[in-house]
Amino acid sequence: MVMKEYLSLAETAELVGKCKETLRRWDKEGILKAVREPVSNYRVYRKKDVQQLLGNLFNTAETDEVSNFTKPQNDYSVLELFAGAGGLAVGMEQAGLKCVALNEIDKWACQTLRKNRPNWNVLEGNIKDFTFEEYKGKVDVVTGGFPCQAFSYAGKKLGLNDARGTLFYEFARVVKQVNPSICIGENVRGLLSHEKGKTLEGMISILDEIGYNVVPVKVLKAINYRVPQKRERLILVGIRKDIEVNYEYPKPHKKIFNLVDALKKGELYNCKVPKSEGSKYPDHKKEILDLVPPKGYWRDLPLDIQKEYMGKSFYLGGGKTGMARRIGWDEPSLTLTCSPAQKQTERCHPDETRPFTVREYARIQTFPDNWHFEGSVSQQYKQIGNAVPVNLAKEIGYSIISFLNKVYENKELKENQPKALVV
Ligand SMILES: C[S@@+](CC[C@H](N)C(=O)[O-])C[C@H]1O[C@@H](n2cnc3c(N)ncnc32)[C@H](O)[C@@H]1O
Repeated sequence: MVMKEYLSLAETAELVGKCKETLRRWDKEGILKAVREPVSNYRVYRKKDVQQLLGNLFNTAETDEVSNFTKPQNDYSVLELFAGAGGLAVGMEQAGLKCVALNEIDKWACQTLRKNRPNWNVLEGNIKDFTFEEYKGKVDVVTGGFPCQAFSYAGKKLGLNDARGTLFYEFARVVKQVNPSICIGENVRGLLSHEKGKTLEGMISILDEIGYNVVPVKVLKAINYRVPQKRERLILVGIRKDIEVNYEYPKPHKKIFNLVDALKKGELYNCKVPKSEGSKYPDHKKEILDLVPPKGYWRDLPLDIQKEYMGKSFYLGGGKTGMARRIGWDEPSLTLTCSPAQKQTERCHPDETRPFTVREYARIQTFPDNWHFEGSVSQQYKQIGNAVPVNLAKEIGYSIISFLNKVYENKELKENQPKALVV
């Protein structure tokens, strides 16, 4: 079945980022009507209806009254683990937190951090080889995007020692040693379902064992935090058990930013994206992507090319709307990966048939233009693709500041009370 003009329920769901049930409800409510495809008589969606709806979805609020900005009432310090090229660290810094040290194993990412912030204390090497004893009781926040690994379970409830050998163990070890008021782990959405949820459950039980209550875990959508990209990040927040202050996630913004906001002059940047190096598609891939219009993907190719390009995937289910994808100016980019020409995750420039350049990549991740990346072009892409979008990190930073302001207020209240009243 050729569906150039029509999209299946699965494809539409994937494109608009809603579940099938929502689409069925929208059909009933007339928000997005399904139609019968003339040849097969399947229930499908007219592509132009979906694109129009996408336009509406991503251009709803022109003004945005939501603000998470909170001014720090004290100097708050962060120890950043698995720091990469600094997406999280830069966002935290922009929010007003101070990075006292950053650990990272990758030599190029460390060079990036040092080049941009010669005053940051970059601890290069495997986290396993470091003791953070000197930061004990001196740091307010420990953050870290630990890579996700399976645990081996001996008993029913996972303890810290059972997790030895994993990088989450190292994160928890450092939190235990440094004893901050709050610790923040960041990860991919996939952690929710990793080992049927047992991995996340294990992490929560370990944090509990080392003295931290975990706030209900949330997946934050970057598009709700001034990032022109549909990236998602799972946030794991632990609060030291002696602290009686609630943590609140940053409120989502109403305004959604699109690719045009990343690459051209506008509210996010005051000039167009600077020129820079970038990788190219191999000739054959370029010939194919030349046939795909903005906001289109492999379904827009002639049937014989679809089959050739997709191989076995052509006959498998699912929309695979990220394959041979060209991004449109008036939509957020799809999640950037660590390598921009990789098969199955092409995100082609809207006007030119090429991957985004390094600086375009950095803009889509909301890095400032003056944040330089060290190493070869592929090393630079990797560092950017691995990062937490800076604007998302900044909003998380505000939420941490708001939490710490309350922690310090409580502390001062207690200290100023007459001794007899302090329990
Ligand atoms: C998802 S990235 C973190 C991105 C970072 N939070 C940012 O916003 O840019 C994870 C990082 O952990 C680093 N890493 C992996 N194993 C490590 C280890 N054993 N010790 C220290 N860092 C490690 C990787 O090199 C990678 O840069």
